[in-house]
Amino acid sequence: MTNWPELECKYYMQTIVRVPVTLVKGKGARVWDDKGREYLDFVCGLAVNCLGHCHPVVANAVAEQARTLMQTSNWYYTIPQIRLAELLVKNSCLDRVFICNSGLEANEGAVKLARRYGHLKLNGAYEVITTMDSFHGRSLAMTAASGQPKMQEPYIPLPAGFVNVANNNIEAIKSATTDKTCAVMLEPVQGEGGVNVPDDDYLKKVREWCDQKGILLILDEVQTGIGRLGTLFGYELYGVEPDILTLAKGLGGGIPIGALLAKERSAVFAVGDHNSTFGGNPVTSAAAYATLKYIIDNDFPTKVKKVGQYLMEGLRGLKKKYPFITDVRGRGLLVAVEFNSDMGQSVLMACLEKGLLVNRVKPNAIRLIPPLTIGNKEVDKALDILDRALSSVAKEVVK
Ligand SMILES: Cc1ncc(COP(=O)(O)O)c(C=O)c1O
Repeated sequence: MTNWPELECKYYMQTIVRVPVTLVKGKGARVWDDKGREYLDFVCGLAVNCLGHCHPVVANAVAEQARTLMQTSNWYYTIPQIRLAELLVKNSCLDRVFICNSGLEANEGAVKLARRYGHLKLNGAYEVITTMDSFHGRSLAMTAASGQPKMQEPYIPLPAGFVNVANNNIEAIKSATTDKTCAVMLEPVQGEGGVNVPDDDYLKKVREWCDQKGILLILDEVQTGIGRLGTLFGYELYGVEPDILTLAKGLGGGIPIGALLAKERSAVFAVGDHNSTFGGNPVTSAAAYATLKYIIDNDFPTKVKKVGQYLMEGLRGLKKKYPFITDVRGRGLLVAVEFNSDMGQSVLMACLEKGLLVNRVKPNAIRLIPPLTIGNKEVDKALDILDRALSSVAKEVVK
């Protein structure tokens, strides 16, 4: 039998500490490894496969479009791209769309758009305020935007124009705002930074401040968008409307795609200002259209809210049982369990051994981001495995 980890070690750049399992097949919330072992997947491609693995709605859309027209340049009109843009606009508070290929590209586009806005309407203002523990992607500019020193240090000097301030702190944003500021960029709930849920009124206060100063509010909903928090977009949960919104992850149901949306008054790109070879490609756009339409038509946000509450209740039960769990937090199906020491990896490995995939989001925390299609039965199974995993880790800690 081929030793895939050994081959990976030989040929692939060693930038990722992988979980020791080689996945070969997926269906719904389940995946199988190369030895035929089945796992319940509460990682789902890092909040990507929102309809589960290989959902027929997505797979059929891809297959049909792949047999019809795969790629043209954006010099031409293509129908899946236009249909996707229309669906996004009709179901959000934004007016215009640009489609790209990933979350970081959507955020790069958002920052470029905010800078254009600054040039045109704010006397050349160009700085974007972001928060500590945020994550906006891995390009150089998005590394500067992401308030995580360990990500930034290897690449100093970073592109100018970003100010990282304390998270969930309106006063920090106010103090950092100058006549150079063109926008504030935030995740409604920080995902990679540890599933950090802000105070209920934080986004409203940020919105009010942006309005007062005439600067833009960019919401990075790469992780929180497309039903993940129990609303189609995270901004609905907090009762605010962004000027610019970015999406990726769940949008394509497993196919790589990102999108940048803007209100009409902030959609200031002119001809020639921005483009992408693959952005809005017919195949990826068809997949995203099918995914989004299915999510909307079947009201997944409401289902996510209910099953998310059920998951949260179960996790609170585990918190009572295991005193080393210090916090369970999240919204909808973006949830973290935090421990009193750096046992995230041990819990991940114990879950893996018992047939559940979870993500170690911080040394002392795991993240659960299952497909939006799961029901209470799958949650029960995950909670049972997690319970047994925590029990075995607890025994190790006591030893
Ligand atoms: C909030 C947020 N923004 C941006 C990104 C970057 O997206 P991508 O990996 O598609 O570039 C991520 C990825 O985890 C994310 O969670």
